[in-house]
Amino acid sequence: MERILVIGCSGQIGSELTLALRKVHGNENVFATDIKQPPKDILESGPFNTLDVMDYNNLLHFAVRFKITQVYNLAAVLSGNAEKIPQQAWEINMRALMNTLELARDSDVKKLFWPSSIAVFGPTTPRYNTPQLTVMEPNTVYGISKLAGERWGEYYQKRYDVDFRSLRYPGLISYKTEAGGGTTDYAVEIYYEAIRNNRYNCFLREDTALPMMFMDDAIKATIQLMEADAGKLSLRSSYNVGGMSFTPKEVAAAIRKHQPDFEITYEPDFRQAIADSWPASIDDSVARKDWGLSDAFNLESMTSLMLNEIRTKLSNKK
Ligand code: SER
Repeated sequence: MERILVIGCSGQIGSELTLALRKVHGNENVFATDIKQPPKDILESGPFNTLDVMDYNNLLHFAVRFKITQVYNLAAVLSGNAEKIPQQAWEINMRALMNTLELARDSDVKKLFWPSSIAVFGPTTPRYNTPQLTVMEPNTVYGISKLAGERWGEYYQKRYDVDFRSLRYPGLISYKTEAGGGTTDYAVEIYYEAIRNNRYNCFLREDTALPMMFMDDAIKATIQLMEADAGKLSLRSSYNVGGMSFTPKEVAAAIRKHQPDFEITYEPDFRQAIADSWPASIDDSVARKDWGLSDAFNLESMTSLMLNEIRTKLSNKK
């Protein structure tokens, strides 16, 4: 029986992954932690503790006390926010990872999941159908920290036999918890604004194509990777995950199929340069071959679901 620690359970990924893990492993075996208060369903369905991943002694104490065997470390400062506080973002993103890698050496933790990102690629990377192995010269603090993190993860796997597993998530789209501070966040905000005001002012240009994935597909892929036989994993850095690829203009068109008078305007800010340095689409054939990555949602199916869920959520709040 696994005993799982989720670090960052209150964030965009954590708030959904924690519940999915509780379904697989049993509510009482999934220990949700964060420095922020989690959503009600996490508090009510199983254990929650305030825990700061930056504090190694507390982290080790926690893992030993609750006999933790697996860690999902989701703590990070995202791309846009990291550019505002470069040194701090580097410190947080790297320290959080190093503490959990060390934890895996010092405790009964055997397996560690840590998210990487399409941000590991940079302006010199082939932009379309970006291969798993290619030129990687990220020029954002977030991207540099993710690339360094991948290298450390692989290093700990080879040198210390830590079962490190990772996905290079594309932009993640969900209705439960908003991300905050990322470059791909426009693709979540646009749905909220469509419901609230029937219009959206986008911080990226209309033709900016980026890889994106609906959260349900991302959660499924994460659990699938963590459950895959170690022997099937040809990579111990991080797997490309492609999802779908679209531009703001295309999302607006998809929304107009439901709300014909939806309006969009464009006012690119500093995040445009970040988006321009990232791939437009991703080749994830290695993940498909190694452990069976697959995804169910496309722009149309995701758009209907996002609009419906957000409409219900916002009307329940009134
Ligand atoms: N969604 C992230 C961001 O925009 C990329 O991994 O920062």
